[in-house]
Amino acid sequence: METLVHLITAGWQDAALTVLRAGGVVGVPTETVYGLAGDATNPDAVAAIYAAKGRPSHNPLIAHMADVDMAQRYAVLDERVLALADAFWPGPLTMVLPLAPDADLATTLAPSLAPSLAPAVTAGGDSLAVRCPRGPLGELARLLNRPIAAPSANKSGHISPTIAHHVLSDLQGGIPLILDGGPTKLGLESTIVDMRGMPVLLRPGAITGEAIEAVLGFALPSDTSPQEAPVAPGQLASHYAPGAPVRLNVLPGDVRPGEAYLGFGDHQLARHPTLSASGSLEEAAEQLYSALRTLDKSKPTGIAIAPIPTTGLGQALNDRLSRAAAPRD
Ligand code: TXA
Ligand code: MG
Repeated sequence: METLVHLITAGWQDAALTVLRAGGVVGVPTETVYGLAGDATNPDAVAAIYAAKGRPSHNPLIAHMADVDMAQRYAVLDERVLALADAFWPGPLTMVLPLAPDADLATTLAPSLAPSLAPAVTAGGDSLAVRCPRGPLGELARLLNRPIAAPSANKSGHISPTIAHHVLSDLQGGIPLILDGGPTKLGLESTIVDMRGMPVLLRPGAITGEAIEAVLGFALPSDTSPQEAPVAPGQLASHYAPGAPVRLNVLPGDVRPGEAYLGFGDHQLARHPTLSASGSLEEAAEQLYSALRTLDKSKPTGIAIAPIPTTGLGQALNDRLSRAAAPRD
C-alpha cells in the first residue's frame, strides 16, 4: 500500500473523510501527538488500527468525540465528568467512563443518529476512554458525525509521533494517508483519569493533577506505577521506548563513553542536544520524543538524560522517561 502524506491545507478534510468513510485509517495530528484515526463504529476500521500498529487486541482505544453531546451517546457522563469536560475540552484530557448501557444497541434503535461502537474499541470491556481533542481530529469527528478511535500513530510500544515523518517511518506502507500539520503543540499524550468511581489519575499529561483537583475540589490520587497487568497498558513498565538503553538523572560528568547525552537547563554537554537550554518544561515536553528518535538513529551505546524537575508538567515528563528507561522484556 502506498502511503500518501497530505498537508493540512485546502482539501485536507475531503482527503481524510474519503478514507475514513471507506473504513480506512489516517494519521492525524492532535494537540498532543499524532493519532492513527479510524471510524470507531466500523469494526473493519478498528481492526485496521490494531493491525497497522501491531497492537495487542486486549489494549483498548480512546474514542475521540466532536463534543459532549456525542460523548453522551456512548458513555455515561456524571456531574463531575461534565465539570471536567467544561474546564478542559476540547483539550488533552481523556476520561475513562462507564460505557453507555445501550452503546452497542444504538444501531437498532436509531441507526442514523448513533451507530453502535465497534466492540474492539473497548477491547470488549464495559468502560470507554473518551476525549474531545483540539484541531483536525476533533473536526473530523464532527464532519463524520461519529466517534473516532485513535491510539498514538506509532508501532506498538515505540515512541509516540510528534511530526508526520515519525508516523511515516513507523507505519509507511501499512496505512493509506497521513495528514501533516507540522509538530504537535504539547508533545506528550493526553492526561488520563479514571472517572468510574473515585477519580484516579492513570496517566499524567499536560493537564496536571493539580489543575484537575482545582475543578473537582478534592485530592486526585494517582495510580501510574508500572504494573504487570495494568488498567491502562500505557502503564506497562517498558513503553514509549527507544532502541538504546536509557539512563535517567545523569549529570554531564557521569556520561559514559559511547553514550548520547540529553541535557536540560543547567545540565548540558557540548555537542550533545538539549531538551531545553532555558530549563522550560513545556519546551522539553515538545522536544522529548523527537529528541529520543533522533538520538536513537545515531545508534549510541545508551542515552543518558539530565535530571528533570518533577513539578507541574515535569510529572508527565518523568513518567514517560521512567517507562523509556524501564528494563525490556
Ligand atoms: O494524546 C493522546 O491520548 C493520544 C491522541 C491520539 O489522542 N492517544 C493515545 O492513545 O495516546 P494510546 O492508545 O496510545 O494510549 C491510550 C491509553 C492506552 O494506555 C490504553 O490502554 C488506555 O489509554 N485506555 C484506552 N481505553 C481505556 C479504558 N477503557 N480503560 C483504561 N485505559 C484505557
Ligand atoms: Mg500510545
